[in-house]
Amino acid sequence: MLSLTINGHEVKVEPGSTILQAAEKLGIFIPTFCYDPQLAQVGACRICVVEVEKARALVASCCTPAADGMIVHTDSERVLAARQANLSLLLANHPLDCLTCEKTGECKLQDYCYLYGVDESDFVGAQKDYDLDDTNPFYIRDMNKCILCGLCVRICYDVNGAGAIEFINRGFDSKVTPAFDDPMEYSSCVFCGMCVDSCPVGALIPKESIRQARPWELKSVKTICPYCGTGCGLELLVKDNKVVKVRGDLSNPVSRGQTCVKGHFGIDFLDSPDRLKTPLVKKNGEFRETTWEDALELVAAKLKEVKPTEVAGLASARATNEENYLFQKLIRSLGSNSVDHCARL
Ligand code: SF4
Ligand code: SF4
Ligand code: SF4
Ligand code: FES
Repeated sequence: MLSLTINGHEVKVEPGSTILQAAEKLGIFIPTFCYDPQLAQVGACRICVVEVEKARALVASCCTPAADGMIVHTDSERVLAARQANLSLLLANHPLDCLTCEKTGECKLQDYCYLYGVDESDFVGAQKDYDLDDTNPFYIRDMNKCILCGLCVRICYDVNGAGAIEFINRGFDSKVTPAFDDPMEYSSCVFCGMCVDSCPVGALIPKESIRQARPWELKSVKTICPYCGTGCGLELLVKDNKVVKVRGDLSNPVSRGQTCVKGHFGIDFLDSPDRLKTPLVKKNGEFRETTWEDALELVAAKLKEVKPTEVAGLASARATNEENYLFQKLIRSLGSNSVDHCARL
């Protein structure tokens, strides 16, 4: 184990740990924009800089290895001045419409500006003026609010594998976009929504949640995606018993925060007026609502009329394992081995 001192407190960590991880072990907060523990660290944003005694410059704590005997200061005057300058540079071309921004209340830029007392930029210059990319049904891309942390690019390449977005241009014109700066609709994006979950600011906004709720009004409910047998963990964000948005559940051991388009953006079926809530029986070519008793009696009578080999059962990926188990028992008890599952269609 390595032993280092952070803000006067000694901590022991495994070799290979970073200063940020050592600070986390002590419960010492260090701000981050581009850090994500599931990705390789690139040290792009520099908001996490700390002062290491005898080092020539401030170092990025998220990607600097802890060393034996290191003495670190996370909130010295030099560190605070560097963080304030960093935020001031970001604000220089950031549209400060926090009043109506969907990210208010869960935006790292907003939180850190509050924490470090930065309410305007010391720098005057050009402003970005990109059109919103609204070309897909699921989320809006507002690159005027992008702080170029690169988390979305790395999640898309390293976790999803789609590689749908990249940085183009250099300097002030740097921008995250699909190939040829095309709209998302024409890219290789599979709309998994993981970039949306990872964005620390209001640059990527799910459409379903726009003007539905502020983050502090939402209740988090962890559940399993009802769409297929993979069983990804979802975090539903709910207001007044209505799902406002969905995130991948990072603590779920099956999916570790990963989602596909159905789980991330397809849960609106819950409140759909088209959902079946009663059994329907076809009479004279038209479906009519009926009671469960009448529907089950009709099914039982029809099953008695046919040979076992004429019966087949089609189960559902949206039902639980237990329900599917009982369903195949039922079909087999009728004398048929023809049981299949909608996920194989
Ligand atoms: S992204 Fe953050 S800082 Fe920017 S307008 Fe939205 S809430 Fe404010
Ligand atoms: S939605 Fe998924 S596939 Fe599309 S850009 Fe984001 S991470 Fe990549
Ligand atoms: S869109 Fe969001 S996650 Fe992607 S680089 Fe910009 S700020 Fe970072
Ligand atoms: S969080 Fe460390 S450089 Fe971005």
